[in-house]
Amino acid sequence: MKRWLTLCLLLTLLGPAAARAELPRVGICAYSSRDTFIGSLLGQIRERSQGTLDFQIVYAQNDQNRQNDQVLQMIADGVDILAVNPVDRVSAVYLIALARQHNLPLILFNREPLREDLAAYDNAYYVGIDPRQQGELQGKLAADYFRAHPEQDLNGDGIIQYVLLRGEPGHQDAELRSLFSVRALTQEGLRVQKLAEETAYWEKGLGQERMAMLLNVYGHRVELVIANNDDMALGAIDALKAAGYFAGAQTIPVIGVDATAPAMEAIAQGALYGTVENDAAQQAQAVVELAALLAAGNAPTADNFPFPMTDRVVYIPSRPVTQ
Ligand code: BGC
Repeated sequence: MKRWLTLCLLLTLLGPAAARAELPRVGICAYSSRDTFIGSLLGQIRERSQGTLDFQIVYAQNDQNRQNDQVLQMIADGVDILAVNPVDRVSAVYLIALARQHNLPLILFNREPLREDLAAYDNAYYVGIDPRQQGELQGKLAADYFRAHPEQDLNGDGIIQYVLLRGEPGHQDAELRSLFSVRALTQEGLRVQKLAEETAYWEKGLGQERMAMLLNVYGHRVELVIANNDDMALGAIDALKAAGYFAGAQTIPVIGVDATAPAMEAIAQGALYGTVENDAAQQAQAVVELAALLAAGNAPTADNFPFPMTDRVVYIPSRPVTQ
């Protein structure tokens, strides 16, 4: 409080430039600069924190050792708060210990630490989504599609033959979306058969490659494509287009997660059947508001923090999107 009063006084006496210099400093360490979803999340954080927080962003390019060094450097630079998107969620245990050792508030986002690791430091938080809910919504979207389009059971065997494109192994969103999407399909009363699953590491290019390969092997036996994210779904659509799909009557339901800008475009064009929103704007807002509270030395409560939080974990709700 005292700090804020001093800040306001400074603002009046010296003008806005001086006040800006006093903004709390947040060190953001992102796992990669090449991820579409993370790019949009960071863009939202930047936008929503203007004038209240001073963010500095570094990228680890998928290398946990490099990220550990970057976090150490941020600490040496004297940041007030750390906001880390870990390369490897299991390695977050080290980052949590570091933050604790330096008595710095830590916000982890997008890659969820193990609960027991987060529990070890009461000034560590996680902001993300519930991948179980997102998987379920994907499964329900697929079930809706097949109820409305029974003819998409191409071989008429009463069973949906699907392929699954998975994100990075060990990433909670890849593991749980995969599990819960298929589980929801069967809970909706549909019979399913997995033809194959391929790991495409969240990437559009790999999604395209893997899908082209799957089409070579399974051809028209594929009746549904489930992808752990939109980039891989869009890659799959490129491969499907190259194989003649989406030109005339020949179509296939492809379902992703994220609702990125290019995915929304593909939905509008009728190529991507549906996606589940991974609300970057609200996740960014939660990170920014949490950082502001922690910088002022306040713990988030139901009164000062408008997002659902349990055991210092914030899950932003998701919703399905189709045309
Ligand atoms: C998103 C992916 C993204 C990944 C990065 C997931 O929640 O759906 O698009 O690549 O996070 O960690």
